[in-house]
Amino acid sequence: MSQSQASATADGAALELASYPMHIDGRPHTTGTWLDSENPWTGRAWARVAWGGAADVDLAATAAHRAFTIGPWAGMTPTERGKVLVTAADALAAQTARLAEIEVRDNGKLLAEMRGQMDYIPEWFRYYGGLADKVEGSVLPLDKKGYFAFTRKQPVGVVGIITPWNSPLLLLAWKLAPALAAGCTVVIKPSEFTSASTLEFVRILEEAGVPAGVVNVVTGFGHDVGARLVDHPLVRKIGFTGSDATGRLIGAQAAAGLKRCTLELGGKSPNIVFADADLDAAVNGVVSGIFAATGQTCIAGSRLLVEESIHDDFVDRLVRLARRARIGDPMSPGTQVGPVTTRPQLAKILGHIDQAVAAGATTALGGQVPATQPSGGWFVEPTIFTGVTPEMDIAQEEVFGPVLAVIPFRDESEAVRLANSTRFGLGAGIWTSNIERAFRMSDAVDSGMVWVNAYRTVSFMAPFGGMKDSGVGRENGSEAISDYLETKTVWINTGAPNRDPFVLG
Ligand code: NAI
Ligand code: MG
Repeated sequence: MSQSQASATADGAALELASYPMHIDGRPHTTGTWLDSENPWTGRAWARVAWGGAADVDLAATAAHRAFTIGPWAGMTPTERGKVLVTAADALAAQTARLAEIEVRDNGKLLAEMRGQMDYIPEWFRYYGGLADKVEGSVLPLDKKGYFAFTRKQPVGVVGIITPWNSPLLLLAWKLAPALAAGCTVVIKPSEFTSASTLEFVRILEEAGVPAGVVNVVTGFGHDVGARLVDHPLVRKIGFTGSDATGRLIGAQAAAGLKRCTLELGGKSPNIVFADADLDAAVNGVVSGIFAATGQTCIAGSRLLVEESIHDDFVDRLVRLARRARIGDPMSPGTQVGPVTTRPQLAKILGHIDQAVAAGATTALGGQVPATQPSGGWFVEPTIFTGVTPEMDIAQEEVFGPVLAVIPFRDESEAVRLANSTRFGLGAGIWTSNIERAFRMSDAVDSGMVWVNAYRTVSFMAPFGGMKDSGVGRENGSEAISDYLETKTVWINTGAPNRDPFVLG
């Protein structure tokens, strides 16, 4: 909800709604004012979430700092911390059905998609739990006699985690699991549209043994709760997923505070289909890239670059498959395309569609709000534009909805040029049966992830993140834990003689 659309209710009102207080220092926390959380399928409020502000961030950051410095967490060995994470993984695994339902109610993604995400999330806690006690410093060989020196890896401190609404818990797990494995404590600011699942999630972690104060949640809007979190002097690192506009602001603010910052900012990722590809597989991949999750994923394959010689045939196949997609209730197993998560997002998508039509793109499929609305919710048809030229907005800007821009190419070098012709660089799909071309293309495309004859696969083991405006840093994989660690170098005098005090030793 945007602030203008937030309907604040006084304590005691809206009793029929589920209520979600914030979570600070192991306790529920409210301010007396609430934000409605709307269900995109019905278009009506289903829960209310505490409306926090900057003062609540101060409480949470102070609690997190206390937990980092003097709480039981601070005294645990890495092995003990790792065990807590593995126990938490088991506790989460026992609650996936409930968490998935909350996510669907809040963000409207398909229950099948959300069940899949929930079932997978515990793996992040197992993986990073296992990694917690494998973080090693080193003994330095040293060029100086009479000294022994080593490095050790220490947690950076309090981490601020800011998440978006499209996959609230998955994108949280990508940050939270390595942060906790490193020994950090955290303050989470979930999206104002989808805060409920994060609050449930954190309670499960505490029941599983994560001490109070280690994980805190402050709910509310980005401009006050989010901004204060980035600014807070006790917060040493920010992990953010969301829009590039907000990422830019947060990056600048974090830089001013000399804080570390990881930004995952979405993209305009191409699926690149060569005439020699397995076209059935490619059609399937392109559809999953843009219409799964109603296109609301950072790695949406929102541009189709297709070899000219198969353009018409390929578009026909795509349209035939996408036209059959069943739009409807995200909770029901037969649905393939659910609603758009937020009211402003629907308006934004429709704006991009109008703009593409005005710019001269041809609507090969969709382009409207469905004529028969399945519910009171926020729907848009799967949409395919042909006749798109690379400079059109629809080929350049992230729509974050089920809207595909199709652009033909003549040869491999033009495919590379087009692929790299946006300011983004998150993902790319390459569809070809030519192994040499697959290697050449995966080298030449500027993106953090490349899939060959595949799309939209992720793993806790596989680094994820973008080049160019798609972000800074990588999440997942063993390296990601370094983002939450400082290297400390320790010098010990083992008999070096006293030195000239006025020159560098
Ligand atoms: P956003 O990027 O503004 O919000 C993401 C998170 O940042 C939310 O928790 C929000 O409250 C917080 N935030 C906002 N302003 C902040 C600030 N000044 N300081 C600190 N935190 C702040 O995304 P929003 O408004 O929800 O969606 C806008 C657009 O972003 C969408 O239309 C879509 O295009 C894109 N988006 C991209 C995502 C991705 O995964 N790449 C995810 C969600 C949205
Ligand atoms: Mg909602």
